[in-house]
Amino acid sequence: MAYKTLLLEIANGVALLKVNRPQAMNALNQEVLLELLAAFQELEKDENVRVIILTGEGKAFVAGADIKEMVSLPAQEARRFSKLGHTVMVETMGSIGKPIIAAVNGFALGGGMELALACDFIYASEDAKFGQPEINLGIIPGFGGTQRLARLIGKAQAKELIYTGQMIGAQEAKELGIVNKVFPAGDLLDAAQKAAATIASKGAWTLRLAKSAIEAGYDLDIKSGCQIEGDSFGLCFSHPDQKEGMTAFLEKRKPAFTSK
Ligand code: CAA
Repeated sequence: MAYKTLLLEIANGVALLKVNRPQAMNALNQEVLLELLAAFQELEKDENVRVIILTGEGKAFVAGADIKEMVSLPAQEARRFSKLGHTVMVETMGSIGKPIIAAVNGFALGGGMELALACDFIYASEDAKFGQPEINLGIIPGFGGTQRLARLIGKAQAKELIYTGQMIGAQEAKELGIVNKVFPAGDLLDAAQKAAATIASKGAWTLRLAKSAIEAGYDLDIKSGCQIEGDSFGLCFSHPDQKEGMTAFLEKRKPAFTSK
């Protein structure tokens, strides 16, 4: 499918998906959100894709929801816009079975930080900037930030970022547990591709079960989460990838997983 606001390249099992509105710092208007939704649905179905890398064209990852589009929204429309963001960033990105790596190449602000947080993990360039500056616009985060950030870094740290609207650098974001790894700008995409290639060599079926067990259990108590884990662990043994993985170990060779 052709997109107006996204660039998509697929090679060696890895989809490189770029938000492509550099003239507006890749701000998320309704069109971008709808295209992201369609792209994730397309990539979920595409058997050639094992892993997705999400990044931004130009000097921003995504500088937030589109302020020009939001400025005169009536309350009911704003609520719908927030729900659309949740459909993309909470329901869809959390439920597709393929890992999504955020390669944050610059500003990840507001809805852009929420988009990065919706990925499975974040790699960032040294000059990336993170923040939830919505408070400066007289609003609060609307694409999952109040909920996700508090769960990820703790209530007090999330409140400080959201109440002050301050930007933080990649290193500080790493110390807070938002970012997994930081790279010189020129190395970011290579590093993300390398991680994606490692992940793409694993069984797609097993990755899907690992992601869904983590996602489904995250907001539950440990006992309920382990119930999901046990069921998923059992399911692994109904698939040829388990036989292949264990047989390959015992035969001292590399496994060749076949699941799509
Ligand atoms: N929405 C719409 N347009 C945006 C935008 C946004 N979020 N961010 C940047 N742009 C536009 C600018 O208006 C400008 O357009 P023009 O050339 O037509 O004036 C263009 O992108 C370039 O931006 P700047 O000239 O501002 O570039 P800069 O390098 O001086 O600053 C920046 C970069 C720090 C990212 C700055 O653009 C900025 O602060 N952007 C807004 C960040 C923000 O407040 N994000 C939160 C949005 S609200 C939200 O996201 C709600 C939610 O959770 C759902």
